[in-house]
Amino acid sequence: VQVVTDWRTGTTDDVRAAYDRARGEYSALRARGLKLNLGRGKPSEEQLDLSNALLSLPGDGDYRAADGTDCRNYGGVQGLPEIRAIFAPMLGAPVEQVIAAGNASLTLMHDAMAFALRHGVAGGRPWAEQGPVTFLCPVPGYDRHFTICDGHGVRMLTVPLTGHGPDMDAVESIAGGDASVKGMWCVPKYSNPTGEVYADEVVERLARMKTAAPDFRLFWDNAYGVHHLTPQGREIANILALAERHGNADRPFVFASTSKITFAGSGVAFFASSAANVKWMLGHLERATIGPDKINQLRHARLLKDANGLAAHMQKHARSLAPKFQAVDRVFTARLGGAGIAAWTRPEGGYFVSLDVMKGCATRTIALAKDAGIVVVPAGSTFPYGSDPEDRNIRIAPSYPTLEEVELAAEGLALSVLVAAGEAVLAQRGEAVATR
Ligand SMILES: Cc1ncc(COP(=O)(O)O)c(C=O)c1O
Repeated sequence: VQVVTDWRTGTTDDVRAAYDRARGEYSALRARGLKLNLGRGKPSEEQLDLSNALLSLPGDGDYRAADGTDCRNYGGVQGLPEIRAIFAPMLGAPVEQVIAAGNASLTLMHDAMAFALRHGVAGGRPWAEQGPVTFLCPVPGYDRHFTICDGHGVRMLTVPLTGHGPDMDAVESIAGGDASVKGMWCVPKYSNPTGEVYADEVVERLARMKTAAPDFRLFWDNAYGVHHLTPQGREIANILALAERHGNADRPFVFASTSKITFAGSGVAFFASSAANVKWMLGHLERATIGPDKINQLRHARLLKDANGLAAHMQKHARSLAPKFQAVDRVFTARLGGAGIAAWTRPEGGYFVSLDVMKGCATRTIALAKDAGIVVVPAGSTFPYGSDPEDRNIRIAPSYPTLEEVELAAEGLALSVLVAAGEAVLAQRGEAVATR
């Protein structure tokens, strides 16, 4: 279907004709009995293969870290200095202010939340003893952040994203006026799912703003800090340095991991923050472990070598990923461009494309796609409590399927968007539409 009609302003005959064509193509595609998945933000096998050297590293007899540590033994809760050194530039912190832990940064985020609620942040009273706890959640966002809040009874307040970070007027007004607001989720680079990169001014305002709660923390999840899809890449302002400059050194908790750099299931997670916060975190972690998997950290250090090695490794990922993102954009542009019924992001990094369909149409679009064998995450997943107030947003993860599968899935999804929108527009105009 070469869409030329703007469905919002086109004649009913034109919309009906475009809808009928889309419906016909959709039915033909559904009849093929496809089984495709754009829901899982996982690295593909091709990407995992890039790190297969890990399977034989550190290698026979290689178990000593640079400082002489025997990595086979207990100890070293902060993690090996050499792996912390490789990631310190990405985290924007000196090596001494970086913790290298187990395989999941989500665990560190979850635990930081639990420690703060139960014990309070460094120098503060337990959040949970101070009344209701609220977190600011830029939307659309990452469902597992919301699950961490929900699991701990933390109330979530949404703030809109603008394309270059959260709406800072809203953030400043809420955080400045409500002492129950103890924290905020931020994915500052190639955000999940919008792909946006926080502008320097946004980072600066987050570092500087007045918060009613003296023990407010930014949960700064830099999950995609080195995950560029372009050769030049984008950089963001250093939240730790800016917060320190504005007298709020303890405000940011910075998180990251190698999940989408090496092996998603057996990587290394990082926490970076002020010296006081690192001491606080280590004090709590020490009760849960006598030390992380240092052999895993050593083999990661052997594989990546240094920050340049990390950057070169990420370019290999980009070569695999970028064509898949381009395919989604190409198909959407061809199918949906100019129809006025959908808008989607063209991220320069990260793992997701964010698709906004007509108000009230995301649930129906996703159901149609599922019927045609194309799975995406359920409607509402990108909002707290699984509830998208406008039922518009759909998160697309093109990394895992092959390029051919991504193309086909994008076709099917675009046809589902057209069918759902056609039903809605025609119904609005009092036209009869068959919905099976
Ligand atoms: C924003 C964000 N943070 C964290 C994670 C998961 O991180 P980890 O594997 O280190 O737990 C993901 C995975 O999709 C993510 O998108």
